[in-house]
Amino acid sequence: MTRAGPGSGDRAAGVVAIVLAAGEGERIGQGPKAFLEIGGRTILEIAMQAAAACPEVSSLVVAVPEGFEARAAGMAPGPKEVRVIAGGRSRQESVLVALQEIPPTVEVVVCHDAARPFAAPELFSSVIAGLAEAEGAISALAPADTVKRVGDGFVESTVPRDGLRLAQTPQAFVARVLREVHLRAAAAGVRSTDDAELLEWAGHRVRVIAGEPVNFKITSPDDLARAELYVLYPGARATHE
Ligand code: CTP
Ligand code: MG
Repeated sequence: MTRAGPGSGDRAAGVVAIVLAAGEGERIGQGPKAFLEIGGRTILEIAMQAAAACPEVSSLVVAVPEGFEARAAGMAPGPKEVRVIAGGRSRQESVLVALQEIPPTVEVVVCHDAARPFAAPELFSSVIAGLAEAEGAISALAPADTVKRVGDGFVESTVPRDGLRLAQTPQAFVARVLREVHLRAAAAGVRSTDDAELLEWAGHRVRVIAGEPVNFKITSPDDLARAELYVLYPGARATHE
């Protein structure tokens, strides 16, 4: 584990943000995605800064691929504590490893994908506030396009869009509940790339907060180009929303 910022004696029981950056970025194919630069800064640095800028967040745990710990620690925004750990083979495993770094006194955990560097600090605050009504709260977006169910290359049906949402991160959780569902899921062999899905599986309520189009996930080379555009021309963000 690599540490930056105040030492372990300073662990405030508040909200800890887990920033997930341990993926290999296979679909882009240029190495671990969070370490690619857009506009001269890494995706991870921008994502960490957004999480740290949320006033409720007291410290960060950042999961990175093994061997990238020191580089990630060097990008810590300060002054909040950032602990960097080697993640797991799947996103789910990375969350589980990160949870083990979080003291039991911490009441709230926010999970956020580094691959969504444009999440506003206010969105973190909104999902945290959503925990007043549920054990989990996610940001999500209504689909803009018409949704078709397709089989064998032909349309089977058009899916009514009301009630459909596209889940994003950040996602906030009561720490005890997130820990419990992750341990149960691992034991039962239940796999998911979405933490809220594990709460649903275990029968917990999840609040939905309105997400933002600019908070898209960098997944393909096209997304990388779009992200670059947003960093170089911040005005472009508004015209896309
Ligand atoms: N992630 C992680 N640990 C893993 C796999 C993924 O922390 N073992 C993180 C990624 O770094 C990313 C987020 O989970 O921020 C969402 O995953 P995804 O977009 O799939 O990123 P990658 O797994 O890196 O990309 P790919 O699937 O193309 O390899
Ligand atoms: Mg992946």
